Amino acid sequence: MSRALPARVRITEVGPRDGLQNEPQRVPTATKAAFVRALVAAGLTEIEITSFVRPDRVPQLADAEELCAALGPPPAGVRYVALVPNERGLERALATGVIGKVAVFTAASETFAQRNVNASIDESIARFRPVVEGARAAGLALRGYVSAAMGCPYEGHVDAAHVVAVVEALDALGCEDISIGDTIGAGTPGDVARVLDAVLAVVPAERIALHFHDTRGMAVANVLEGLRRGIASYDASAGGLGGCPYAPGAAGNLATEDLVYLLDGLGVAHGVGLDPLRQASASIENAVGHALVGRVYRAPAWPLGE
Ligand code: HMG
Ligand code: MG
Repeated sequence: MSRALPARVRITEVGPRDGLQNEPQRVPTATKAAFVRALVAAGLTEIEITSFVRPDRVPQLADAEELCAALGPPPAGVRYVALVPNERGLERALATGVIGKVAVFTAASETFAQRNVNASIDESIARFRPVVEGARAAGLALRGYVSAAMGCPYEGHVDAAHVVAVVEALDALGCEDISIGDTIGAGTPGDVARVLDAVLAVVPAERIALHFHDTRGMAVANVLEGLRRGIASYDASAGGLGGCPYAPGAAGNLATEDLVYLLDGLGVAHGVGLDPLRQASASIENAVGHALVGRVYRAPAWPLGE
């Protein structure tokens, strides 16, 4: 159902994690730390900086501990988020002392869950229980991701009922926000409407975030559909970081600059400065070894002279 747009939106910057995990070139830890600091300077307050997963599965983020040590505690009002798949991941995240929020992740498709986390959906959720207890005991905030919510690279179409079942399980675990992921950028606003109609019948809009990849150029349109349905939390990556330029079909997240430009145009507050954000993206562009694809990042400043 369409309603007034939210007055303010929270942007979770996932470039250092989702973006860099997909870049073929390894980025030095010091460059990653400078990137995160530049994102903070641009006004981003929720930044997913890395993952505590198996280093052999995601070698790009194998320096998670080193990055945390290089960064130190976040400035006041900023929270560093990290992906944590299991108890081992939580132990590693807690040992750094700088992570304020952990994100557990599973999928709405069985095949995707198997390939991504080597477990069925139910098994992955069972693994989260001790993670949730440990995170809560340590005073950390908790996010849950539902991947492949608008299409699966192995199974194709994914029923909204499967998304709802996982959302309910993450809700029951106590995730404060649940991010619905269009992992392969297959969805259109029609899919956003279809999935949200089902999800918002069981969990309020305040607890839902949307996580779009921009493979088919639908991400900004999808955000607009989310806004119309009252969703006020979006994930994005600076410059549209991510995706492999040598692998057709792999694309990065919705570019944070594109999200900011859209929100500015709609008069929705978000707290991020477009110019310093562009500078943050520029700081990582050389390190990944190819041009970043974000449309607003690449375009001249507008209005002219800004
Ligand atoms: P597993 O192999 O099933 O784990 O991995 P296991 O419990 O059987 O352990 C096997 C070995 O791994 C053991 O070592 C463990 O200690 C080690 P050994 O005893 O053989 O020497 N191990 C670990 N080491 C370090 N940190 C850990 C850890 N866990 C086990 N946390 C696991 C299961 C999930 C860990 C693995 O499959 C994995 O790391 N997968 C990577 C998943 C990933 O990072 N995917 C990308 C992120 S998700 C995403 O991008 C989607 C999202 O953006 C939303 C969207 O777009 O939809 C979030
Ligand atoms: Mg993603």
